Amino acid sequence: MLTNLRKRNLTARLRQPADELWDRYLGVHTFGYHPGSGGPGEREWYMHYIPSSYRDVFAVLDRAGVGPDDVVTDLGCGLGRVVFAAGHRSAARVEGVDLVPSLIDAAKANLAGSRLKHRDIRFHARNALDHDLGMTTLLYLFHPFGPEILGEVIEKARADRRSAGARRSLRIAYVNPVAESVLNEAGWLRPVGDMPPRPELFSNALHYRTAFWESTDV
Ligand SMILES: C[S@@+](CC[C@H](N)C(=O)[O-])C[C@H]1O[C@@H](n2cnc3c(N)ncnc32)[C@H](O)[C@@H]1O
Repeated sequence: MLTNLRKRNLTARLRQPADELWDRYLGVHTFGYHPGSGGPGEREWYMHYIPSSYRDVFAVLDRAGVGPDDVVTDLGCGLGRVVFAAGHRSAARVEGVDLVPSLIDAAKANLAGSRLKHRDIRFHARNALDHDLGMTTLLYLFHPFGPEILGEVIEKARADRRSAGARRSLRIAYVNPVAESVLNEAGWLRPVGDMPPRPELFSNALHYRTAFWESTDV
């Protein structure tokens, strides 16, 4: 399995050269794959780890207007590509959360060797449902789990914001928004835009639509 993983990473790195260059520039290794579990219709539908292309991640962060006042949280961060990209875009604090401890161990090792190691970047091996979102201003989701968990996360985000007395609105960027109806029906989020998938030259990475919301609670 390890040999397969190594081979897969090598192939991806060759076929996604811009992402390989970004990894090298940032001093991290974010190519990889980890299987998910469950499936549509099950509460515990956890998606596999596969990173988005840096070009897409930066496009999403820029569209969301990430800046030095932001606390960005990637729920389902894997090896941390989005986290490092948000750090590079100068977010005040970036948090990455993943259910799989080995991915978080590798993400932490990435941080230790990265040019961003002195920034406020934190990784947590935990279920998204156990992460406090009270201070988060930009929530990044790349279809990490199914609609039930998503609904619970969104309700918890609202409760966390109330407990923290959040004064800034929460923006949400949802890549491959399979369960977007959950956000549309939450009652305290309004849709604020949509970005179509765009093909990328010299890359075999998959591309997805991204949808954006903003909270109406502050
Ligand atoms: C599609 S990958 C996203 C990778 C990364 N965010 C990116 O955009 O490149 C989905 C990730 O969500 C994680 N995940 C799935 N269910 C989760 C849960 N309940 N809590 C935390 N992480 C979860 C998986 O382990 C996987 O690494």
